[in-house]
Amino acid sequence: MAIQRTFSIIKPDATARNLTGKINAKFEEAGLRIVAQKRIHLTKAQAGVFYAVHAERPFYDELCEFMASGPIVAQVLEGEDAIATNRAVMGATNPADAAPGTVRAEFAQSVGENSVHGSDAPETAAVEIAYFFSGLELVG
Ligand code: CMP
Repeated sequence: MAIQRTFSIIKPDATARNLTGKINAKFEEAGLRIVAQKRIHLTKAQAGVFYAVHAERPFYDELCEFMASGPIVAQVLEGEDAIATNRAVMGATNPADAAPGTVRAEFAQSVGENSVHGSDAPETAAVEIAYFFSGLELVG
């Protein structure tokens, strides 16, 4: 598998508990390199655009409200098979199902407040990276 890039968010529940460094350490220990990173506070509308694919889901409004409730850290992670590697480090969406040692098993509070987001495919990674970063901000 070639070197790949994926998009990651450290969510408001995690930034509120000062977990950015602990989560980044897990990414780096797994061989992922943080090639772009910024801490921002989304508006609900900006979160809504990012999660537009979930617009018809019953949890959409709650999800957007939560993602705008505090700062997030938006990131681009680079490494071998980065999308799958990151998803393994994150663990299952619902922390009750997440494997021991994963970010969500250790830090997530619920399926909604689940500490991290990661792209699920190369196409979504490209769209998500472009939503938050310009090419000049990606420093490999
Ligand atoms: P994420 O990987 O960011 O992608 C979509 C998000 O929707 C997901 O993580 C969860 O945080 C959230 N989500 C999924 N299912 C539910 C649910 N049943 N209730 C609230 N939020 C959810």
